[in-house]
Amino acid sequence: MLFHRFDDIDIPRLGLGTWQLQGDDAYRIVSKALEIGYRHIDTAAVYENEEEVGRAIAESGLKREDIFLTTKLWWKDIRDGKSAEAMDKSLDRLGTDYIDLILNHWPVPGMEIKPQVEPLAEIKSAGKARLIGVSNYTQQQLLKAVTDCPERLANIQCEYHPMLNQDPVLKTARGFDMLFTSYSPIGQGKVLANPAIKRLAEWNKKDPAQIVLRWHLQQANVAAIPRTSSEEHLKSNFDIFDFELSAEDMKTVYGLMRPDGRLIDPDWAPEWDTGTSEAA
Ligand SMILES: NC(=O)c1ccc[n+]([C@@H]2O[C@H](COP(=O)([O-])OP(=O)(O)OC[C@H]3O[C@@H](n4cnc5c(N)ncnc54)[C@H](OP(=O)(O)O)[C@@H]3O)[C@@H](O)[C@H]2O)c1
Repeated sequence: MLFHRFDDIDIPRLGLGTWQLQGDDAYRIVSKALEIGYRHIDTAAVYENEEEVGRAIAESGLKREDIFLTTKLWWKDIRDGKSAEAMDKSLDRLGTDYIDLILNHWPVPGMEIKPQVEPLAEIKSAGKARLIGVSNYTQQQLLKAVTDCPERLANIQCEYHPMLNQDPVLKTARGFDMLFTSYSPIGQGKVLANPAIKRLAEWNKKDPAQIVLRWHLQQANVAAIPRTSSEEHLKSNFDIFDFELSAEDMKTVYGLMRPDGRLIDPDWAPEWDTGTSEAA
């Protein structure tokens, strides 16, 4: 496993995403993931699976401290001044008294950044979260968050995959030695049929998802949290530590970025950054 160290805490750079996994599926996949060796699990209040994630962790036979667990506060709770309350509810559902990383899931439309990030610092001071961070913030929002938050931000989580350039936020995150977590890291499966990715998979004797996940992990400060409901994919997505993409291979993947590559763009999203290619 590769790790990013922040404030003496080692964050595994490959984790399991759990969006859209619910009920028995969520319990089964998280349990299996922990058995395979995953030690970083990503959930959110809004995914409605915190109870199953918590149960899978509790019944895994692993020590709580051996698992890096992330959850997220929904933006309407942040807007309504209920971050602390929402944190307590998540901890209750997860059946744990602390979270490793708590994130503001989205910036609140039209609200100053300061009142959005101050509650994160309070949650950390209260010992309920070891690390704090944000998700879906633009470069300018991230810079403001870093300035306005009384505690250091460890992480930003954003959509990132070979079709989407994220240079502005990536560079800012690296500047503060934060971890950048790529969500939808395999483009929700959409990048896997790309001929260039398929060719790299053949050359490296790996499958397309392994190529893309390896591309993430070979970038400084980047983690990836692929989601799957298939035990086979769960295993293959974790089997990426025995090969390396060459500089040429990395460049090929960077070359797939395109202006319309974004997949997640709800009504409440901020005005996104546009980036330039890392390879340029
Ligand atoms: N912060 C945010 O706002 C935010 C937003 C979106 C996502 N996230 C987080 O990021 C995680 C991952 O993102 P995501 O769920 O959007 O998409 P993703 O991980 O990029 O893609 C998931 C899709 O890829 C397929 N897949 C996974 N492994 C595969 C493999 N080896 N071969 C072929 N297909 C494969 C899965 O199908 P199968 O089930 O058939 O394998 C599923 O349809 C989420 O679960 C969530 O934890 C956060």
